[in-house]
Amino acid sequence: MLKNGLEKQEILRILEEKLKLDKLYDSGSILGSMCTEPLDLGIEICMKYISKNLGDPGLFLGTTALEQELVSEIGELFGGKHIMGTFTTGGSEANLIALRIAKKLRPDIKNPEVVLSQSAHISFDKAADLLDIKLRKAHLNEDFTLDMNHFESLMNQNTCGVVGIAGTTSLGLVDPIEEIGKKTDGKDISFHIDAAFGGFVLPFLENLNLHSSPWDFSVKSVDSITADPHKMGMGVIPTGGIFLRDKSILQKIGFEIPYLAGGNFKHLHIVGTRPGGTIIAFWAILKSLGINGFNKIVEKCMDNTNYLVKRIGGIKGIKIATKPVMNIVGITTENGDTICKIDEELRKRNWMTGKFEKLNLIRVVVMPHVQKVHLKNFVKDLENIVKILKF
Ligand SMILES: Cc1ncc(COP(=O)(O)O)c(C=O)c1O
Repeated sequence: MLKNGLEKQEILRILEEKLKLDKLYDSGSILGSMCTEPLDLGIEICMKYISKNLGDPGLFLGTTALEQELVSEIGELFGGKHIMGTFTTGGSEANLIALRIAKKLRPDIKNPEVVLSQSAHISFDKAADLLDIKLRKAHLNEDFTLDMNHFESLMNQNTCGVVGIAGTTSLGLVDPIEEIGKKTDGKDISFHIDAAFGGFVLPFLENLNLHSSPWDFSVKSVDSITADPHKMGMGVIPTGGIFLRDKSILQKIGFEIPYLAGGNFKHLHIVGTRPGGTIIAFWAILKSLGINGFNKIVEKCMDNTNYLVKRIGGIKGIKIATKPVMNIVGITTENGDTICKIDEELRKRNWMTGKFEKLNLIRVVVMPHVQKVHLKNFVKDLENIVKILKF
């Protein structure tokens, strides 16, 4: 650490230099991220209220009330009434909270298990490890959808929870939520939906008549939903969210915090101190965009998604892995050869996509920062690579 502090100008200069290493969303090269540039208003509001700490809600009663208002608005967007919930550091923390709830509500099960798809995000492996839960992962069908027969066969007397995914990390697919729900009906099993990515896509796809199968609280056995503002919600990092049907959960299994300046309270979080600014920012983002603003964002993402799908269809040697449900496109090889070489060549040309080796696919997430011109350039490089590698 320096003995004497530097002038602001000098600090800014050094940072400018050091952060040149970072990729920028608007450069067009980030094609594999589920985050994007937040709405400008969100950044402004977040900075204004940056010191609000929801880890001590008694000190920030206004921010706490705003969080609850936001939760209930989102709960309604997700087909629920009087939904409770809270914002988290992201989908991983929200999924960890969901698995903890599933375990805690079934103290009678000595060796708790959770059934979910092989497509489930790595955050469930982390949560299971931390909570000492056994994950039972159901196979996928040829078309990457969930094998429901296998899923059902994994449920047994140790099952404390099941998870349905509404927007898989690899391909954006939606599990058959109603069908999973039927398997939990009348059983004392928590049913959690991971819509970390899909939560702020699916309601708008429905408005655009581009999706219809129920995935949210409209399915009566759904107990909780993860949905992240810092993905397709245009929110500021870090903002994840968990939404719960049962208001009594907090009292039942919340952690009591005994020492706070604002007075004791209970929470479900893993973190203590947590940002209020990002949540106030998301409140402002929802007010600013409204349903129509989100419809437009999602419509543009889907238009670009369809453009990419069409262009990939014209390249011999590669193909799309499956028809996209949302703004995620998986690209694989036609003859089953490894996709890794293509990924390597793309990276050399500065394209930052995600690679899913087990599924042998490259993933393009067509986020709001991705423009058609970026995709045109990407396809041009992809065409050349496929030719050079002689696929
Ligand atoms: C479906 C899904 N769930 C959870 C997560 C974890 O979210 P985070 O990175 O915000 O913790 C992701 C991240 O990509 C995801 O795709």
